[in-house]
Amino acid sequence: CGIIGVLGSHEVAPLLVESLKRLEYRGYDSAGIATVNDGRLDRRRAVGKLVNLSDLLVHEPLLGKSGIGHTRWATHGAATTHNAHPHRSGPVAVVHNGIIENFRELRAELAEAGIHPETDTDTETVALLTRLHMDRGLPPREAAVAALRQLEGAFALLWLFDGEPDLMVAARRGSPLAIGYGAGEMYVGSDAIALAPMTDQITYLDEGDYAFITRAGAEIFDAEGRRANRDRQQIDTGAVTVEKAGYKHFMAKEIAEQPAVLGDALRHYLRPDGSLNLPEELDFSGLDRLTLVACGTAYYACAVAKYWFESLARLPVEIDVASEFRYREPPLPAKSWALFVSQSGETADTLAALRYCAERVEKTVAVINVPSSTMAREADLALPIHAGVEVGVASTKAFTCQLLTLAVLALKAGRDRGVLSEADLAAHADALRALPGLMNTALGLSDDIARLAESLAEAQDVLFLGRGPLYPLALEGALKLKEISYIHAEGYASGELKHGPIALIERSVPVIVFAPHDRLFDKTVSNMQEVMARHGQVLLVSDAKGLQAAEQGTWARLKLPEVAEPFAPILYALPAQLIAYHTACAKGTDVDQPRNLAKSVTVE
Ligand code: G6P
Repeated sequence: CGIIGVLGSHEVAPLLVESLKRLEYRGYDSAGIATVNDGRLDRRRAVGKLVNLSDLLVHEPLLGKSGIGHTRWATHGAATTHNAHPHRSGPVAVVHNGIIENFRELRAELAEAGIHPETDTDTETVALLTRLHMDRGLPPREAAVAALRQLEGAFALLWLFDGEPDLMVAARRGSPLAIGYGAGEMYVGSDAIALAPMTDQITYLDEGDYAFITRAGAEIFDAEGRRANRDRQQIDTGAVTVEKAGYKHFMAKEIAEQPAVLGDALRHYLRPDGSLNLPEELDFSGLDRLTLVACGTAYYACAVAKYWFESLARLPVEIDVASEFRYREPPLPAKSWALFVSQSGETADTLAALRYCAERVEKTVAVINVPSSTMAREADLALPIHAGVEVGVASTKAFTCQLLTLAVLALKAGRDRGVLSEADLAAHADALRALPGLMNTALGLSDDIARLAESLAEAQDVLFLGRGPLYPLALEGALKLKEISYIHAEGYASGELKHGPIALIERSVPVIVFAPHDRLFDKTVSNMQEVMARHGQVLLVSDAKGLQAAEQGTWARLKLPEVAEPFAPILYALPAQLIAYHTACAKGTDVDQPRNLAKSVTVE
């Protein structure tokens, strides 16, 4: 969910809506705002995308110079107007990101006081509790803090009060919150992106902090209630502008940007003389193990990187999805590092995994796209992937930039551990440098893929196959297709097909095979034959040699340029993304904001 609050000098409703638009990547199940106008608290809420709220505000405007807003990714309670934020009880309105874990117990307490919820949400409990404290005589600030002390869970909260046009109370426990400073105005937002049009002066609340915000400034307190001084930073607002630049979708723009952003990342991590530009302290030589943890697409980047660290650096690697890793209490060798990959740097499970590792391993490293993110601040070392702002909910350019950063790290590890010679490193560096050009060629397949997508859009199920580092790419290809076209898709290791999934093969199930002409090619082709013998429709994605060597009988073929073996997934990601994109377009789904998803998931 996304949170915004403004104590302004003009009408705030348009500012709130504009800021919510920048936060919509955090969820779009419903949106709402509340303002204080002439001392009176009022609110408007609408289910679905933000545009529905904007439309409502045209017919039922909301006046006032102070206000809070919210865009929701539903957790407790269906995505209805009724359950939309801000939640209100009497003089209190609250917006919330995260989960109040003890809300059932709190409801029971409230019931004893004769106060009953009207919605299915955990958030409403915060409004009810605050109101109860006010009914018992506490002023708004103290009432909010008293309620806050009763809450368990990970969340960010913002309160607004009837009769208090110059006050917001903000609290951070688990989910980030930024306070912004303007000329006679004050702001609160889930991130700097939301505040970027209004200010570049930001203070991030620390874990456990709460703050009283008035137009005169912010008083910040730590978890123990002591006054706290938190740095004010100037952020680069230019870096957070978001435009479609003539493309139909952000996703199309972000796919097309990959040669350029990958080039940026390369310039950052590879010096012109071919040496690696990484912090000195990153010395992999004495390590017994590397642990890689992430969620979603970032996890598949880790799954590819496992092959690289193992083959290029002979470094044992463990990978896991963060939601499993954090609770299985894994033993970690003392001489090990843990690496967390996250576009947003805020994903709740990945952050919790980072915190678990902080005291248990030698070094924690965050590979992130948002340099001001919580993971970047909490890890011992943060490495940016230089992808630029990614707006499409389905990750594309962040994935390939994550892969590139991980590839560079694997090369560093290979050198440090004496597995790669200077000459090997130079050859691999050249292979990486060739990628932007190869990607441009791959983008040229877009029209062919759009034609194939007309048929793919008819499918109920699609299988993706790959071997070696192309196996995780098959998983990512399937995830992309699921996310935005809503077609059921599965990725399998080619060799695993015969152990079960082959039972699914029939004429109506397209099978997409990623198979560059590498040392595993013949094996993959055998698996493809097994599919075709059972009337499976194969789309083979390979290079000239591969397409020539593969026998006839495929349904369709896509020709990519040749690419140095270990780094093929970085190139093959593009057709995988384009297949998902064009299939979704053919189906007419909402490509940039697919149903039920959110780009940054700050609940576990
Ligand atoms: C969400 C997004 C995915 C993303 C995952 C991890 O589920 O929809 O696209 O891969 O979170 O996000 P992160 O910001 O940690 O990379």
